[in-house]
Amino acid sequence: MLRFVILLAFLVVTQFAAVSYSAPLTCPPPNEVLPCTCTSSATGKPSLACIGPTISQANIERLFARIRAVNAIPLDGGPEDPSQYTPSPSGKTLNWINITRFDLTNTEMTSLNNAPLIGCHFDVLDASNNPLLREIVLADINKLINGHYRGGISVEAETVRFDHCALGDSAWTAFSIFRLSVRHLSLKNNALTIVEYRSDYLKQLRALERLDLADNRIYEIRGSQFTENHYLQHLNLSRNRISSLGPAAFKILHTPFEVADKRLTIDLSLNNLYNGQGMVSEPYKVH
Ligand SMILES: *[C@@H]1O[C@H](CO)[C@@H](O)[C@H](O)[C@H]1NC(C)=O
Ligand SMILES: *[C@@H]1O[C@H](CO)[C@@H](O)[C@H](O)[C@H]1NC(C)=O
Repeated sequence: MLRFVILLAFLVVTQFAAVSYSAPLTCPPPNEVLPCTCTSSATGKPSLACIGPTISQANIERLFARIRAVNAIPLDGGPEDPSQYTPSPSGKTLNWINITRFDLTNTEMTSLNNAPLIGCHFDVLDASNNPLLREIVLADINKLINGHYRGGISVEAETVRFDHCALGDSAWTAFSIFRLSVRHLSLKNNALTIVEYRSDYLKQLRALERLDLADNRIYEIRGSQFTENHYLQHLNLSRNRISSLGPAAFKILHTPFEVADKRLTIDLSLNNLYNGQGMVSEPYKVH
């Protein structure tokens, strides 16, 4: 009888977990996710780490797949048995899982596919110090969980760091996946050359407060005014190769702001800019 009650309680708990993304998450046994680690916290939001030169894409996929399996939270809430699956794109919603932080650092990966991160909400996603990381491959929705999930692709992360990687301009599009959630995006010390504001990827980051682009090879800012980023307060372009701002680059430097209470500090120090007599070496503040 006691066994039956325990079994019943177990079933109730796992069923509940399957429908409620805010249920506390349990970490899988450590050996199932090695060389990555999952550390539970009192808040039920684990922190994850995949650190070091042995880390591969397969390790990351396994980590997230095991977390979903152990907590019985499939990505799209579809049936466990694939033969039972009836595609209904409109009816599918993501089952979010919430993670405090994910450290993906000091790897020798050259490319990262973001598919395992879909449906995760990270307070911090830190993928810094991956000196060979040149590209972020966007998830192919048709390949997600055996082709089941056909809904929108989204990852939520409040702080996203890809500092000291080897990302070039093609990586820009990858960040639009965080569109409504990212408040601090840090891409210091990469190989970015152009900030193209007219294309959608930056405009879509509606919650952005801080954008760190120091120590890149940026020589041109195309487009004007971060008008869609109403919360942007810090834009760090220090130590790049900007030699002119052009008439459209920062209209904000010449005309009063449209949003009266918007305050934006732009650091343009250590570029090739001349400000009448000399180099602009102090952070350029615009209020
Ligand atoms: C988990 O993440 C989802 C999606 O961002 C959010 O709506 C929900 O409030 C979060 N739950 C917890 C417990 O943080
Ligand atoms: C901009 O980034 C550089 C390099 O990391 C740093 O030294 C500087 O303090 C930053 N500027 C501001 C205004 O935070």
